[in-house]
Order: sequence, then structure tokens, then C-alpha cells
Amino acid sequence: KRPPSSLIFIFGGSGDLNHRKLSPALYNLFIDNWMPEKFDIVGIGRRPYDNVSYRQHLYKGIGEFSRRKDDQPGRWDTFSKYVSYLQMDAENEAEYEKIAEIVKQKEAEYGEHPNVIFYLAVAPQLVAGIVSKLGPLNICADTKCTRVVVEKPFGHNLESALELNKLLASMFDEKQIYRIDHYLGKETVQNILALRFANALFEPIWNRNYIDHIQITAAETVGVEGRGDFYESSGALRDMVQNHILQLLCMIAMEAPVSFDADEIRNKKVDVLHAIRKLRKEDVHHNAVRGQYSQGWMKAKEVAGYRQEKNVDKGSPVDTFAAVKFYIDNWRWQDVPFYVRTGKRMSDKETIITIQFKTAPNFAFPPEAAETWRPNRLTISIAPEMDIRLRFQAKRPGQGVALSPVDMIFSYKDAYIEQEPEAYETLLLDVMEGNATLFMREDQVAAAWKVIMPILEAWQQREPVDFPNYAPGSWGPEDAEALIARDGRNWVTLP
Ligand code: BG6
Repeated sequence: KRPPSSLIFIFGGSGDLNHRKLSPALYNLFIDNWMPEKFDIVGIGRRPYDNVSYRQHLYKGIGEFSRRKDDQPGRWDTFSKYVSYLQMDAENEAEYEKIAEIVKQKEAEYGEHPNVIFYLAVAPQLVAGIVSKLGPLNICADTKCTRVVVEKPFGHNLESALELNKLLASMFDEKQIYRIDHYLGKETVQNILALRFANALFEPIWNRNYIDHIQITAAETVGVEGRGDFYESSGALRDMVQNHILQLLCMIAMEAPVSFDADEIRNKKVDVLHAIRKLRKEDVHHNAVRGQYSQGWMKAKEVAGYRQEKNVDKGSPVDTFAAVKFYIDNWRWQDVPFYVRTGKRMSDKETIITIQFKTAPNFAFPPEAAETWRPNRLTISIAPEMDIRLRFQAKRPGQGVALSPVDMIFSYKDAYIEQEPEAYETLLLDVMEGNATLFMREDQVAAAWKVIMPILEAWQQREPVDFPNYAPGSWGPEDAEALIARDGRNWVTLP
């Protein structure tokens, strides 16, 4: 069933996120017949496009970034008629009347009142200004149809996140606010709930009695990709750990929901965030490692160090790598470490979650028979491949006893012919349908900030003396290896 009529305004309409992600996602939804019968998309920006040049600009993005190129002749032409451009200065309150005008006009055209969606795909420092000028518009009082989508980063620290939440709450009802974290829209991430709670097999062993530790790696090969000015006020901990990685951790660690109600799922996740042990400042250096990439070579190509990137300070203390060891203080997870790491310019693009099980309680085979003592692990791969691997010990064929681990693999590519939707497709459709399950609630955002604030504060107090401290194409700084090696474990990468 298609969603109800929707009028979508995209602030940052001429920006990168719209070009790479939002427009391609809306186009794919259109091709798959998921867009409403009646809809319009209005890109809002300062740059002087007209409708024709704006559509051309977006079309380039489809060619480059969409999972579907223009492989259905004529479809882009039809779709682009629903796309228009509104040049406006979002800092000038008087100009917001233009939006109210468009809503009125479309309402008359559709013969009904549509969903009015404001997507804030803008730099974080612009969000509050736009929200405070949008809020007073008449249409925003409509708590049923008007929605506002806010991109991460949601605030810069706990204090600014609380302030932004307060501002949003003074203008909108919580159910109108969609705080987006695109990781939650990924198929493989959504599948974590299916894996855990639609099977009887895993849940009984999904706890401290059977699990040795958990790892989450979100490694990227790219650098900051021209986003130096944004990254200078962010860093890896804010950009990836506060949101994406903690969300993954919640999916792995949460208790079973009673239903698929949006608040039920979000309650279960927020419980995890509350239970994460807050690091004491003096313990930060022992449990968290930061890094920054140097100049070097990747795949026979020379790449700049972070401090040489555009709009980056020559002595920047900003982290492009972060690794943290967390503990969750509850009955299920007491004493089970969660090691997480993320970084730019690392060896491979790899987003994986590893659940490492304990060793067999008694090993009756000759000790020299096994290559490894800890064979049992479940690896959930989110990127680059989408698959789940269960590793167990097997006897190698031949005389004598030699054991080595083998993998049982479920791969999306082999199991399904359907192409999986991009995260943004799923999330935009959810916004049109009014389903907030995969979006972050106010208290989740705050709870996630509370987890990382001690680390941020400790890092702010002491300048990193050894930056840059990892080479491009590596797996990060040596200290990150030490963080896990100290506990007799090591980071897992895909074979
Ligand atoms: C974004 C970060 O939220 O996620 C980027 O701001 C990062 O720095 C990106 O590159 C990674 O997303 P994905 O889906 O490619 O893992």
C-alpha cells in the first residue's frame, strides 16, 4: 500500500546528502511504486538553480550514486516533473511564507491535505535556526501530517543535544520529529532483530554464560572526502560511535521486545544505553583509543594525511579513528566486553559485528588437534558484503584428528533475487507512512551522549601528543591492538 499524499521539502536541497542519498532514494521508491499517488519534492537552497538546472544536477547524482541507474527509459523524466527548486535564504524568516504558499497551492491541486515533510539535510549549526523559523508556520501545528526529519549529528555534545531537543519540543510534538540514523534503515541491521527474535535458536545462548565478547568494527577506506570543516568539529567518536555504533550495539544487546510497536522497541534500546557503564575520566585512557591518519599510500596511490586535508587545521587534534571497550551492567551482559572501533582511511571498508562465543567446557581432543580454541563465532556483515556467518569447529578429512573452523554462510546475494533497498529508501518511506520505529527518540539521543561524554571530555583535556598515529591502509593505531590484546583477544576482520 502506497503512503498518503506527501509534500516533501528538503532544506539543503542543493547539498551533498540530497545529491548522493535522498534524491536517489526517492527515485528508487518511485520506480518501485512506493511513492504516493500524489507527491511533490521541493529542494530548498541558496544556490541559483531553476527547475531545469536543478533536475539536471540531481540526475547526475542518480547516475553516480543510485543503486539503479537510468535503466528504465522515461522514468526519470516522469519522476523529475515532481521535483522543483525553491531558492531561498533559510536564515530569513520572511521567506518562510514561500513555503506556506506552496503548501496551500499543492493542497488545492491534490484536493486534500497532504503530509508535509521538512527534511533538514543541512549543516548542524543551521538546524536550530531553521527549526525556530519553521515552527511558527500554521502547518506545523498539524501534529498528524506535518513532520520534521533531523539528520545526525544531533547536537555537538550532551548539552547542545538537550537544547536542540528542547527547541524542537517547543515547536513540534515528539511524534512529528524523526531523528534519522541511516544505519537503522540498513537491511542487515534490521535483520538483527529477525535473527535474534524470530528464531528460537540463538536467544538461549545470547548472554554472558555463552558469549565471551562482542566486537563492532565500522572501518572505511575513504578519508574525510572534502568534509574537513564539518569533521573538524566532529571527529570519529561523534560522527560514528555516538550514533551508528551505539545503535548497532543496542540491537545486539537489547532484550526481546513484546511487540513491534515503535515505543516498545525504542524502550528496549534505551534500556541498553542506560546500562552501559559510564567510564570514569581516569579510566578513559585505558578503555578508549583515538587515532588520526597520516599521509601515506593506499593501493599504490598517495593520499594526504588528515592534517593536510582541505579546511583542516595543520595541528588538528581531531580523531579520525576511535576504539572503545564498553561494559553493560545488567544480568544478560555483566562482564562481557563490547569492543568497538571505527576509522577513516583504514585497510578495508568493513562494517561487521562479531559475537564470539566461549570455548567448549571440556576439550577431549588432543590439544594439538585444534588450530584455535575459540572457534564459535557469529559474524554479521553489514558491508561490503551482506551476510551472516556461523563458525564452528570441524574435523578435517583424513586420518588422525585435526580440527579447524569452517563457516556456514547465509548471503543475501545468494538467498534472494530481490535487490535490497538503500537505507534512505526505507527511512523516507517510513517518514511518509508515519512509522517512527527506526528513528531515534529524544531520550535515546541523550542517553547515547551520556555514554560518550566522559571520553570526549577526557580527550579534550589532554591534547593527543602522538598524532598522526596510524598509516592509511592500516587497521588503526597500535594502541587499538593493545586495547584488545591486553584481554587476550584480537580484532576480527573478514577473511
Ligand atoms: C555518516 C558519517 O553518518 O556515515 C560519515 O557522517 C560516514 O563520515 C558514513 O562515512 C558511513 O556510512 P556507511 O553507510 O557508508 O557505512
